[in-house]
Amino acid sequence: MRRSIMLSCGSYLPKKVMTNSDLAKLVDTTDEWIEQRTGIKKRHIAGEGEKTSDMATFAAEKALKKANLTGKDIDMIVLATTSPDNTFPATAVTVQANIGMHDKGFAFDIQAVCSGFIYALATADNFIKAGQVKRALVIGAEHFTSLIDWKDRTTCVLFGDGAGAVVLEANDNASGTKADRGILSTHLHSQGEFRSLLYVDGGPSSTKTVGHVRMNGKEVFRHAVTRMSEAIMEAMRENDVDPSEVKWLVPHQANKRIIDATAEKLNLSPDSVVMTVAEHGNTSAASIPLALTTAVEDGRIQRGDLILMEAMGGGLTWGAALARW
Ligand code: UT7
Repeated sequence: MRRSIMLSCGSYLPKKVMTNSDLAKLVDTTDEWIEQRTGIKKRHIAGEGEKTSDMATFAAEKALKKANLTGKDIDMIVLATTSPDNTFPATAVTVQANIGMHDKGFAFDIQAVCSGFIYALATADNFIKAGQVKRALVIGAEHFTSLIDWKDRTTCVLFGDGAGAVVLEANDNASGTKADRGILSTHLHSQGEFRSLLYVDGGPSSTKTVGHVRMNGKEVFRHAVTRMSEAIMEAMRENDVDPSEVKWLVPHQANKRIIDATAEKLNLSPDSVVMTVAEHGNTSAASIPLALTTAVEDGRIQRGDLILMEAMGGGLTWGAALARW
């Protein structure tokens, strides 16, 4: 049986840091409120002229280097973003050119907001399983602060910029059991009737502007805990996995309270949760690969560990992926 092995990962955060106290100078908020309600301490902001494709390229190059590969070894790039360089072409093709993936392969973007990385991972995994590509680069990259209304304290304190990437490779000798390395299953969902709970109030065919993020935070919070728990349970059920077998939960990093509530609901030990939201806030599609890279680089996630990834975002979209690192 064919599985997609996760060969390596890499991430990038811009140099410029904005603390909660910095934000308190812009809007009526406090360091205490932000930290208590979200767990966020700071976020990184892309530098002048620094684009989504630049951040994505840094993360991709780090992941490729760790796998001893170059762009020439990659057949496909799937890049999840809500904040592309341009309306078109896809940011993924700029990354394709940047990493020297010339004369071969293809690259495209995926838009599922904060669930983008799970959607991109599922897409690449399916291309690999279908036998259409051998190696794929899956990237989540966001210049999310360009979508922020810096006068709206209910959203501007939450988000940040960054990127993360994973290299996938086909393995044709998998057993087809949960003991296999690689992606065991992915589970995607969306419910368009809830799209007005979290959206950007602009776009080419509506206002002809870029627009700003608008969110009904309380409602999104409520849906997030319920839906992400459901997706995690679906992944565990499909693979006949007990919560005690999950070594690491690598969740979308939106809010510490959402992550804590989800882990508690599923009886997952707090010690098995990778939490990086304090360091970079909600980086949308970049947050899972950022958290994953942190835990792989600091040695928490080891080869063979069972990891559960989950996310929810605008759309509403949500999903989960179970993998053995
Ligand atoms: O990535 C996926 C999508 N996003 C999410 O997952 C985010 C989901 N939602 C959340 O994380 C939370 O709902 C928030 C962090 C956005 C808000 O936390 P909350 O506990 O739901 O607060 P709230 O919206 O109920 O607001 C409580 C109070 C309100 O004041 P009143 O009406 O009680 O007087 C707000 O006006 O806090 C006020 N408030 C603030 N105060 C200081 C809202 N934002 C701020 C702020 N600083 N930045």
